[in-house]
Amino acid sequence: MEQTQGRAEGMLKDDALKGKTIVITGGGTGLGKAMGTYFLKLGANLVITSRKLEVLKQTSVEMEAATGGKVMAISCDVRKYEEVENMLAAAVSTFGKVDVLVNNAAGNFISPTERLSANAFSAIIDIVLKGSVNCSLALGKYWIKEKMPGNILNIVTTYAFTGSAYVVPSACAKGGVLAMTRSLAVEWGRHGIRCNAIAPGPFPTKGAWERLLPGAMAEKFDFKNRVPLKRVGEHQELANLAGFLVSDFSGYINGDVITIDGGEWLQGAGQFNALEMVPDAMWDNIEKTTRGASHS
Ligand code: HXC
Ligand code: NAP
Repeated sequence: MEQTQGRAEGMLKDDALKGKTIVITGGGTGLGKAMGTYFLKLGANLVITSRKLEVLKQTSVEMEAATGGKVMAISCDVRKYEEVENMLAAAVSTFGKVDVLVNNAAGNFISPTERLSANAFSAIIDIVLKGSVNCSLALGKYWIKEKMPGNILNIVTTYAFTGSAYVVPSACAKGGVLAMTRSLAVEWGRHGIRCNAIAPGPFPTKGAWERLLPGAMAEKFDFKNRVPLKRVGEHQELANLAGFLVSDFSGYINGDVITIDGGEWLQGAGQFNALEMVPDAMWDNIEKTTRGASHS
């Protein structure tokens, strides 16, 4: 029988993030919204930021009503360093300080690479890699200047380490963010700044599904069939992991990337993994043949 208990429940104790101010880029939608809502429930102050202020405002109203927490909604295009600096200054002026940055904003689409214009490639690299660099740089300078500890959590994806066809700009950018994660973890560790990443597998969101599985593709390439656990992820499962990594309970974890994908990427990696299609009766015959072979 399938074990479902805990998937939709918060894991950390109340007040686990009390006193922390957390900035989430791309925090108005999808996984950013799910993580932010949970951080608020754990007592954090939240800054959500992206390009569309109306979306952010609407989300902040919903989040405050659901949690009783404080949310600042502020527009900021992560591609523009000056806007990132302004966002940080506004966050500090509202909440007194910023303790955590979650680099979650992203852009993506599927396409054969040879059909892409150079500008299409840049569009993704600019949001994902340059955007994460801009935010990490601004926050890192701030924490080091103020002699404060800091914490960066980068949302990458499993193809940051495997690569993937048809999403090559995103794979390059996410791979770069993973390299930045490991590099800064070492370089800024002495300043008390931690840097980790989460590599999610499929977690259905409007933003990702509309762009990566448009139209009939959602049924044809149903992601859950690629996952050994035969299901997609639930947002709270990701929020639980993110909550742990932005809390002080993970204080000795630095420079790691934690995969949360139901085993999806390994399913594609093992040479014999496709044998899951072999039925029991065929295994009986195979066993006879292979055992016999060892005596000949
Ligand atoms: C090919 C495309 C394209 C497409 C845009 N372009 N869409 N090329 N196929 N589907 C080209 C354009 O023609 C243009 O090049 C260049 O890309 C920039 O396009 P703009 O529309 O001007 O870009 P912009 O307004 O900056 O929008 C960025 C965007 C958009 C990435 C294209 O989709 C966006 O805003 N996305 C944000 C949200 C998002 O993508 N969420 C999903 C994250 S999911 P030319 O040469 O014509 O000027 C994710 C999951 C990973 O990362 C793993 C899941 C399992
Ligand atoms: P999403 O809802 O589309 O989130 C992307 C967010 O990024 C949006 O809120 C968008 O808001 C923001 N954004 C885009 N360009 C920006 C820019 N230039 N400046 C600031 N913000 C910008 O998709 P999601 O599925 O929740 O994805 C969230 C994160 O999880 C991404 O990093 C994604 O790569 C990662 N991920 C998702 C999955 C999945 O299965 N869903 C799997 C692996 C990894 P605006 O349009 O308002 O700017």
